[in-house]
Amino acid sequence: MSRRLLITGGAGFIGSNFVHHWCQNYPSERVVVLDALTYAGNIANLAGLEKQDNFRFVQGNICDRSLLNQLLETENIDTIAHFAAESHVDRSILGPGAFVETNVVGTYTLLEAFRQHWQTNSLPTNYRFLHVSTDEVYGSLNPNDPPFSETTPYSPNSPYSASKAGSDHLVHAYHHTYGLPTIITNCSNNYGPYQFPEKLIPLICINTLIGKRLPVYGDGKNVRDWLYVGDHCSALDVVIHRGIPGETYNIGGNNEVENINLVQMLCQLMDELAPNLPVRPAANLITFVKDRLGHDRRYAIDATKIQTQLGWTPSVTVAEGLRLTVAWYLTHENWWKPLLSQEYQAYYQKNYVF
Ligand code: NAD
Ligand code: TYD
Repeated sequence: MSRRLLITGGAGFIGSNFVHHWCQNYPSERVVVLDALTYAGNIANLAGLEKQDNFRFVQGNICDRSLLNQLLETENIDTIAHFAAESHVDRSILGPGAFVETNVVGTYTLLEAFRQHWQTNSLPTNYRFLHVSTDEVYGSLNPNDPPFSETTPYSPNSPYSASKAGSDHLVHAYHHTYGLPTIITNCSNNYGPYQFPEKLIPLICINTLIGKRLPVYGDGKNVRDWLYVGDHCSALDVVIHRGIPGETYNIGGNNEVENINLVQMLCQLMDELAPNLPVRPAANLITFVKDRLGHDRRYAIDATKIQTQLGWTPSVTVAEGLRLTVAWYLTHENWWKPLLSQEYQAYYQKNYVF
């Protein structure tokens, strides 16, 4: 069955990787990207696709109900892959308002528009609303706790994770109440090409290349599970094709790493792969800085359900994925340099206490 997708947030990091994944694997299927192009959205992430007949980019906001109605109807959309969000924990601490607006109100607006579209078309069974969410909704783990499963109670701690939890609850409620064919995925930390410089891995790569200090929060022993973005995209593909409406699937890489170890691995790769580093060894730039407020200690994902029920497993190890990522930032200075804008510098000044 050929699908007609609306991909929200498709000019962001994961969304753009997913758009490339879909256009490569299903070149005859319709892909409409809706993205507001906030500071995190970048049309350059979709370069090359504008030439394809089946691809369309629309700049717009998921809170704009009449635009949503019009796109769903005129494009005859049957599948929404919903990535659009404010996504950075540190920015949610500095200013939570935009997170409530986009993540909660925006998701609600999209659900309402899709419900109307689905009901107007007599409840087709092939329709899907894929809500892309995060493991952060489950809160923080102690060192010996078992990883998050789909039945772990929600306990979000940051304005970001609280707003994502709110959106997850709405998506769940639209299935439970109206029968809307929604599916939720909760994934661990992604990394790879096209990730905005404010997130840990691109920040370390770029700061190393320009000889800037590498800020590590607190004692550096916070633990995250890392998944290469291409593996996240293949998981979402499987969920759209084989996932059961009403279900939640956790997605993870089974790669728990302490932040300080991750930063050291990145420094070693930079020493090996970058010919002209301003400071060598790169690890000399590591600087412990004031901790993030309310910093979650550990996240870990139990991905047994998606593995056993849908047959998905990650294909890239963390060693391979980090090498691919460092090589990408090394060869894509033209992509990241313009992103170190005044707005970015102002955010940086506000966020870090060295
Ligand atoms: P991102 O910040 O790189 O991209 C978000 C995109 O959404 C941007 O292109 C932005 O312009 C767009 N956007 C923001 N507000 C909008 C609005 N109101 N209307 C339309 N477009 C809007 O984020 P990302 O890292 O690619 O994350 C994508 C999704 O995946 C998010 O929902 C996030 O919560 C989730 N997620 C991210 C990670 C991760 O490690 N990055 C892990 C798990 C889940
Ligand atoms: P981040 O990439 O912001 O993802 P998240 O907070 O959603 O997990 O951060 C990953 C980890 O790295 C997190 O524990 C915070 C830490 N971190 C630093 O130590 N220094 C930094 O400059 C950044 C951005 C993050």
